[in-house]
Amino acid sequence: MGQACLTNDERARILKAARHAVKHAYAPYSNFGVGAAILTEKGGLFTGCNIENASYGLTVCAERVAIYSAVAQEGSNMRIRAIAVVSETGGDCPPCGACRQVISEFGPDAIVIFQGYEGTEELHISELLPKGFTRRGIT
Ligand code: THU
Repeated sequence: MGQACLTNDERARILKAARHAVKHAYAPYSNFGVGAAILTEKGGLFTGCNIENASYGLTVCAERVAIYSAVAQEGSNMRIRAIAVVSETGGDCPPCGACRQVISEFGPDAIVIFQGYEGTEELHISELLPKGFTRRGIT
């Protein structure tokens, strides 16, 4: 696992983008808006927000909206260098388990920045998802 660090400028840039994206959240059921932003290895910046549905289970998290948008716009070889996640209320918002699996698929070396219980945290995806599923064992 490489430990590519973010520059202060990059960190500020994706946090700002995530804070902008949270304004687009559609969260009338939970009232918990979430924003995410991705910096790709090619230098692209893509954002997402959570999008809920009256059929609650159809809700999509901000992280996955951002990742799928990045793939759609940059192509299937898009790789996540860093992803930032913020909540509208300022409450802690570590990526859910499903999003960790998706982050890992497109960013096996991704840096994940999120609002933790006691402030901003910055961890490698492998620290958040130590033994994620891969297709390595499938022939
Ligand atoms: N949510 C996210 O967007 N990202 C996460 O990592 C956790 C939860 C959203 C889903 C739902 O719309 C709201 O937060 C409350 O669970």
